[in-house]
Amino acid sequence: MGQIISVHSFRGGTGKSNLVANLSVALAAQGKRIAVVDTDIQSPGIHVLFNLDLKQVNHTLNDYLLGRCSVEAPVFDVTQSLPPERSQVIPRRGGAIYLIPSSMKVDEITTILSEGYDIGLLTQAFQQLLQHLKLDYVLIDTHPGFNEETLLSIGLSDALVVILRTDQQDFQGTALTVRVAKRLNVPKLGLVVNKLLPDFNPQEVKTSMEKTFEAPVVGVLPLETDMIRLASRDLFYLKFPGHPLSQQIHHLADWLA
Ligand SMILES: Nc1ncnc2c1ncn2[C@@H]1O[C@H](COP(=O)(O)OP(=O)(O)O)[C@@H](O)[C@H]1O
Ligand SMILES: [Mg+2]
Repeated sequence: MGQIISVHSFRGGTGKSNLVANLSVALAAQGKRIAVVDTDIQSPGIHVLFNLDLKQVNHTLNDYLLGRCSVEAPVFDVTQSLPPERSQVIPRRGGAIYLIPSSMKVDEITTILSEGYDIGLLTQAFQQLLQHLKLDYVLIDTHPGFNEETLLSIGLSDALVVILRTDQQDFQGTALTVRVAKRLNVPKLGLVVNKLLPDFNPQEVKTSMEKTFEAPVVGVLPLETDMIRLASRDLFYLKFPGHPLSQQIHHLADWLA
């Protein structure tokens, strides 16, 4: 049976979507079958990293949650949209990446937010995806902070990755997230420090964060100008395979496995 992994941060812009997308490629390159679910219903975006044009898409996660389609309808095999050398290597190794995008239509976002939906449908979706697509992992790109689907996703997860920056606001929020995860008995919890400035020592930051949050730090990712320059147009892990940031993503994939 595959595993459910949530990637969360208390605040937005921390790097969740980029990490989830790059991590999915790192795992798929090892022959793993992945579904990436965009549960950031309020502010979706991970489809951009996979180059999926939502104008060409008939169904999204919103339609499923509103009971308008099956869970399979908004599943898109994005392995094909990766650069040719990867789109061939990944399937050859048995890997695959499926994306379940969230809607970018204002009315569909507001309908979900105002009317709500049966939260049990989300649980069912993860289970059905794992079974039907014979997945190794469901990777959940969450909305920052806490809402119902985020709490549900964390509670259901086999592993939770919490991303933070070295920012006092992130620290307080992360402490809260870690407390919630521990109360929900998430089996595996790891912290990822992202956008670390070059004047910090990664090892010292790791030690200090582990002491503060009483949780393992499973990645310290530098603030990388090439990542900023990519501007979510491409996947860093593919573009800069040997880069220290890509190596950190690789370590994270190993930690999950
Ligand atoms: N390690 C990093 N170095 C530099 N920029 C980064 C890094 N990680 C993410 N970013 C940038 O930060 C912005 C927000 O990232 P995103 O993944 O959308 O965050 P979130 O999903 O948490 O809101 C994007 O422009 C992305 O390119
Ligand atoms: Mg995001």
